[in-house]
Amino acid sequence: MKKDKKNSYSDYKNRSYSGSDASIFSNQRFEDLINSTDDWFWEIDKHGRYTFASHQVFHILGYKPEEVLGLTPFDLMPRSQAQRLKKTFEPIFSVQQPFRLLQNYNLHKDGHMVCLETSGNPFYDHDKKFMGYRGIDRDITARKKIEKANEDLLLALDQMAEAALVVATDLKIIYVNKAFYELLGYTPEQIIGEPLSLLNPPEEIDDKKVEFTTSVLNEDGSWEGEVYRRKATGELICVYLKATATRDEDGNLTGYIGTYFDLSDIIQANKNLENTLNQTVHAISSTLAKRDPYTFGHQNHVAVIAMGIAKKLNKSEDFIKGLLLGATIHDIGKVNIPTEILNKSGVLNEYEFGLIKDHVISGFDIVNDLSFPWPIAEMVLQHHERYNGSGYPHGRMNGEIILEAKIIGIADTVQAMASHRPYRPALDPQLAIDEIKKNREVLYDPEVSDAFLDLVDSDSGHQLLTAYTSSA
Ligand SMILES: [Fe+2]
Repeated sequence: MKKDKKNSYSDYKNRSYSGSDASIFSNQRFEDLINSTDDWFWEIDKHGRYTFASHQVFHILGYKPEEVLGLTPFDLMPRSQAQRLKKTFEPIFSVQQPFRLLQNYNLHKDGHMVCLETSGNPFYDHDKKFMGYRGIDRDITARKKIEKANEDLLLALDQMAEAALVVATDLKIIYVNKAFYELLGYTPEQIIGEPLSLLNPPEEIDDKKVEFTTSVLNEDGSWEGEVYRRKATGELICVYLKATATRDEDGNLTGYIGTYFDLSDIIQANKNLENTLNQTVHAISSTLAKRDPYTFGHQNHVAVIAMGIAKKLNKSEDFIKGLLLGATIHDIGKVNIPTEILNKSGVLNEYEFGLIKDHVISGFDIVNDLSFPWPIAEMVLQHHERYNGSGYPHGRMNGEIILEAKIIGIADTVQAMASHRPYRPALDPQLAIDEIKKNREVLYDPEVSDAFLDLVDSDSGHQLLTAYTSSA
């Protein structure tokens, strides 16, 4: 190939060049320089016609050098482009100004479009008479495609409803879209060129930092999840972040793109829903309180003990929220039991005990139509089920009973035993603790039993048991 190039150049040197100063092209150094680049060197005369074309024109436009001699640069362009560039170029040419990096589109011999970046200098003979231009054309088609792709990408990012940012490999922010400015309130001066960490929340609430860093920066190259980000005002907002590492064609890391979906409205809607649910539960619970104050107090105290157990089990805040609601209305079905049976001081007969047992099913029916984000109706239904299947209403066994119901079941037993009942005075709380110890892994889930026993072993747990049992 290289030999062909040299032949082509030599052809030009011997046959095609008839220009102003042949001696410069006889210089081996100059020839070596021309051959060291992919750029196309050319010369045009004072009429704008090629008098020299280096061999690179073949690789750039598909023409042999001799094929372009005598043509003007505009002959190689699409007509509309040629007309426009002639207007640009004529004033430059008329006053013989140099020009730099003039971008123009040309047609390759096979018909495809090639973008060139052209620079040229006027040259003169010994009498300082203008002879034409000498210059260089660089094929920037690939670069333009990348620029166009980047422009398209930025345009697409700008039109996105979600906030987006582009981060360089040094983790400095190099681009943010309109939605980003709108969501976080930074001006371009405040954010472009700044480290990504500017957006991070304080360390103590940045619980996703390690996970994010490991996934995006080190391993998978992508991560998504809920995070907090800092607005220009300093306020923190919760967003759903999707982050992806970007790579070039060779797989080299070029940076990161992240999008933020604002979760504020969803969080507010959830809070509103939670408030509504709390109010609903409170309303249901108050209804019961008017006719059965004992059960009202019992439910609230069971809820506090259940929460203590759940914390010992390291359950999430969300789990505990649901558990509290469920425990607060776990006996709601007792609204359907006549008060004379509820308050009966003697032993219940079989029929009466059957009515009492039905409270879990009528409670389930009351709650089941409400859309809670937690299994509240199941908590109500299952809180008298027991580990060995001896409970009611369905005789479910260990794995068939939800954890919340197992927790409420233990809290319920303990609270009821250690509290005053119409048919007996409050028992010593230690008896309630012994009941759980004795029936651990029989009636009660061993793990939940251990959490309860752990709870009452601590000073605060013991105080909690005392406060929420016999005083009820
Ligand atoms: Fe109950």
